[in-house]
Amino acid sequence: MAWFLSFGFVVLLLSLSNGGSAARVVKTAYLDGLVPNGNFEEGPKKSNLKKTVIIGKYSLPQWEINGLVEYVSGGPQPGGFYFPIPRGVHAVRLGNEASISQSLKLKQGSIYSLTFGITRTCAQDEVLRVSVPGQSSDLPVQTLYSTDGGDTYAWAFKATSPVVKISFHNPGIQEDPSCGPLLDAIAIKEMLPLKYSKGNLVKNGGFEIGPHIFKNFSTGVLILPKVQDLISPLPGWIIESLKPIKLVDRKHFFVPGGFSAVELVAGRESAIAQIIRTVPNKTYNLTFTVGDAKNACHGSMMVEAFAGTKTLKVPYNSVAKGGFKTASLTFQAPSSRTRITFYSAYYHSKLNDYGHMCGPVLDDVRVFPVRI
Ligand SMILES: *[C@@H]1O[C@H](CO)[C@@H](O)[C@H](O)[C@H]1NC(C)=O
Ligand SMILES: *[C@@H]1O[C@H](CO)[C@@H](O)[C@H](O)[C@H]1NC(C)=O
Ligand SMILES: *[C@@H]1O[C@H](CO)[C@@H](O)[C@H](O)[C@H]1NC(C)=O
Repeated sequence: MAWFLSFGFVVLLLSLSNGGSAARVVKTAYLDGLVPNGNFEEGPKKSNLKKTVIIGKYSLPQWEINGLVEYVSGGPQPGGFYFPIPRGVHAVRLGNEASISQSLKLKQGSIYSLTFGITRTCAQDEVLRVSVPGQSSDLPVQTLYSTDGGDTYAWAFKATSPVVKISFHNPGIQEDPSCGPLLDAIAIKEMLPLKYSKGNLVKNGGFEIGPHIFKNFSTGVLILPKVQDLISPLPGWIIESLKPIKLVDRKHFFVPGGFSAVELVAGRESAIAQIIRTVPNKTYNLTFTVGDAKNACHGSMMVEAFAGTKTLKVPYNSVAKGGFKTASLTFQAPSSRTRITFYSAYYHSKLNDYGHMCGPVLDDVRVFPVRI
């Protein structure tokens, strides 16, 4: 049984001609929104529910389910649980070895990213396996990075056929069968090919091209290290080391420039890097902004930047009100490829909420050749 995705947002690209007297309007339709019933607001019929357990493989509209899948509503639950459902009213909980899946009609050969909200329901770590045929990733569900409910993750894949089955699976064998991750919203976005911005050697230096960001509610989107993500949901950038970085948006956070930026939430355990093309021995100027997302993340921060053989430490004192400064570093290219890397030197957690990690914001990364 296949359910096809048949919607898309229309984006208007306005390109002003010289003097701005005439405008050329190019219409491009690409996918950027919830998958069908991606917020589970359309529930199973009452007759297909045994308490919260969904009975029947096709009883959850638009989805196929396998194993013990519960349909839950936010708030206090029998057994003393409390399910916060940040992005809506309803969610599904995946029991041990349970999964939900859906077939989407996509453009073969294109890259897509999925954005989804997950909350763990028990104290122990839970895992969510997200997959399409031939590509999969296991996400640790820790809920460490958001104060008000679940974390949001992004995962990218390449559509290798015109119909792609996306699936979310709980591979864990928890002792307590009432544990298991809670999924509350799933969106998809087509990742359009990157364009160079004139003169800047860094691709997607302002972090403007990234996964879908939920419009109504955002705790930022966590981007996992490349071990888990072969295709980056943040095009151009490589997330190194062990822990994720977080994409933050202007609507819900302070960002230095444009619509989005990244928050370095995991101290030295997470670096973000890009390899740029350079001319050996030529001198370049790396500039970037460092600030805070106005999200209760306070203290003495330090972003370390590396380019060629040069290092720059940029201190930033966050009073958590949103602000930024610009830093620059000149370097000589060691070869035809130069790696630029950033990380947060320190670990930070939110004021009054020490369980939640946060950090400095990085934005507007540019590299220009220096004319000597
Ligand atoms: C955002 O909220 C509005 C109003 O509550 C709702 O109609 C819409 O579906 C929501 N959008 C998403 C993406 O959840
Ligand atoms: C770069 O500089 C080094 C040291 O000055 C020199 O040995 C090397 O030949 C130069 N490489 C190029 C491609 O100019
Ligand atoms: C590098 O760029 C910054 C910001 O534009 C500028 O202030 C600085 O002078 C530049 N450095 C060099 C060596 O051109």
